[in-house]
Amino acid sequence: MDRIIINGPCRLEGEVDISGAKNAIVAILPAAMLVDGVCRIENVPQISDVENICNILIAMGAKVNRAEGKTLEVDCSAVRCTEVPYEYARKFRASYYFLGALLGRFGNAKVALPGGCHLGARPIDQHIKAFEQLGAQVDILHGNVHCTAEKLEGDDIYLDMVSVGATINAMLAAVKADGLTVIENVAKEPHIVDVANFLNSMGANIRGAGTDVIKVQGVDRLLGGSYAVIPDQIEAGTFMAAAAATGGRVLVKNVIPKHMECISAKLEEMGVLIEEFDDSILVDATAPLKKANIKTMPYPGFPTDMQPQMATVMLRAEGTSKINEGVWDSRFKYTEELIRMGAEIAVAGKVATIEGGRQLLGAPVRACDLRAGAAMVIAGLMAQGTTTIEDIDHIRRGYERIVEKFASLGADIRLVLD
Ligand code: EPU
Repeated sequence: MDRIIINGPCRLEGEVDISGAKNAIVAILPAAMLVDGVCRIENVPQISDVENICNILIAMGAKVNRAEGKTLEVDCSAVRCTEVPYEYARKFRASYYFLGALLGRFGNAKVALPGGCHLGARPIDQHIKAFEQLGAQVDILHGNVHCTAEKLEGDDIYLDMVSVGATINAMLAAVKADGLTVIENVAKEPHIVDVANFLNSMGANIRGAGTDVIKVQGVDRLLGGSYAVIPDQIEAGTFMAAAAATGGRVLVKNVIPKHMECISAKLEEMGVLIEEFDDSILVDATAPLKKANIKTMPYPGFPTDMQPQMATVMLRAEGTSKINEGVWDSRFKYTEELIRMGAEIAVAGKVATIEGGRQLLGAPVRACDLRAGAAMVIAGLMAQGTTTIEDIDHIRRGYERIVEKFASLGADIRLVLD
């Protein structure tokens, strides 16, 4: 079984470059289905979710060309297929974006119910509500979601809860619908804005992304163009947390500091020195850390996708910290792995209580999901002795060259392929 082996402890020092945003590109690639022409997409991260989506696009008849560096050229003009089968969809959550994109382009989509990280119940009722509001009929049969519409017509959509996926899917379905769609109570994450900017650069008319209301004026056609994906807020946050947890000093480069404020503010509260530059952030965590409390929330609140990594920072802080998970029902499975390494963490429902100041000891652990896997890497860097992380496919879904990046910061870390 492939694994990551870390010999700790280590103090991270140096500079690291952040890749393009996973949660933006996993929506932008399906969104390319709506475009008649070549989409040249720059700053694409080399992660397995991107490989999976490219395989889906190719299987459906798209041309996908990896141009120089991190640039992908995608041309979906020749696609006629409207189906994403189970063997592709089960591998990752974002396969549900093909529903909105195919419905928007063909008025027809059949996509297997998605897989992805196990974080508790992950319903898609708000995606379905949005499609129905635009005039689609939606049925779930034999594990597939079927959407059909003679014609999509713009309408008002009010989401019952703030959902990243439903917001993007509603935009995708509305881009070529007749007339104006107004989507209210939407998510405001940086990747929502990035998907809207991508679509607009291809000829869509979307306003308000990044606020609570998005207005989509339907257009007849989207033509090709060039677009560069934003830096990954969560990858950047992961390296900031890793610097803090190891008492290190790291310059995190190629970031948008504004997107990082929810994370920077919490680290500063804990005693980490943060210095912002135009497109980089210096994290200096050489001083002792103070305890803190976190409640995860939709953007601009503290991101749930940084919750496991921040738990490791709390393990270094003096005193008792608390995390209240406000987005997912079940996102504390990873704490069992940290406890195997000597952490003192008590979980009661959606609250984890973390005692700081215990020295972790290296142990064999699992990456329970993508962000939990990142937390295991950080814990391995903090721990005395050898940590072996298994089930690392989760990590590969969303972190580009994570082993090389940590090694370049001085970590004794290696990837073992079996
Ligand atoms: N929800 C519903 N009904 C819906 C949709 C969502 O009840 O139709 C609930 C969910 O159960 C959850 C909450 O609303 O309690 C928020 O879910 P959201 O739809 O925002 O999550 P998502 O779109 O499935 C994306 C990211 C996740 C990230 C969440 C929250 C992608 C591909 N995934 O998931 O990222 O945790 O937003 O920010 O963008 C990760 O990157 O590790 C990851 C899990």
